[in-house]
Amino acid sequence: MRLFLDTANIDDIRRCAAMGVVSGVTTNPTLLAKEGVEYRDRILEICEVVDGPISAEGVALTADELVEEGRRIASWHESVVVKVAMTEPGLEAISRLAAEGISTNCTLIFSANQVLLAARAGATFVSPFVGRLDDGGQDGMEMVREAVQILETFHLPAQVLAASLRHTRHVTEAALAGAHVATVPPAVLLQMVKHPLTDAGIERFLADSTNYSAV
Ligand code: G3P
Repeated sequence: MRLFLDTANIDDIRRCAAMGVVSGVTTNPTLLAKEGVEYRDRILEICEVVDGPISAEGVALTADELVEEGRRIASWHESVVVKVAMTEPGLEAISRLAAEGISTNCTLIFSANQVLLAARAGATFVSPFVGRLDDGGQDGMEMVREAVQILETFHLPAQVLAASLRHTRHVTEAALAGAHVATVPPAVLLQMVKHPLTDAGIERFLADSTNYSAV
């Protein structure tokens, strides 16, 4: 499973990318709004830091406008993936953009049937929102398991991008479910690095290294 960062914060992206574990970035209008920067400028900055798919979301409401917006967003940089919400015009836009060779990420997915539709329309990535389903008392990860099974059964090339992941256990479960990608907030990725026994072990090794002359 590849790990993408779910943020538009360039400092967080630089910090996490330096570890060599970040294969892409997902953004959305809410994440961009927190940064107070121009959307295109920030996406281009991210493309310079991370060599991989960078999702930038379209906000138009009709299929024609979404296709137009998608073409424009895709022209910013070869790494850019056009994020399109799961709606009827969104599916039409995804299929038309796919026909032009433009990569898309179908977002705001909350059911396995929506996954099937997005994959059939030709989405490169399909993004089930795990945490937001959990918030409503459902098992969001079950949707990821079903999505992976459906795509594998019918040999559909779309990749399951588990999104709205809120904690480290979500990441483990997404990997076990067979998700191709998990997009995680920087805080969750940094939490994945940590374990109290690792810290205790380092402390003990440091304490015992008084006569150690490797450097
Ligand atoms: O990229 C969209 C998604 O990951 C948002 O997550 O926590 O706002 O539900 P959240």
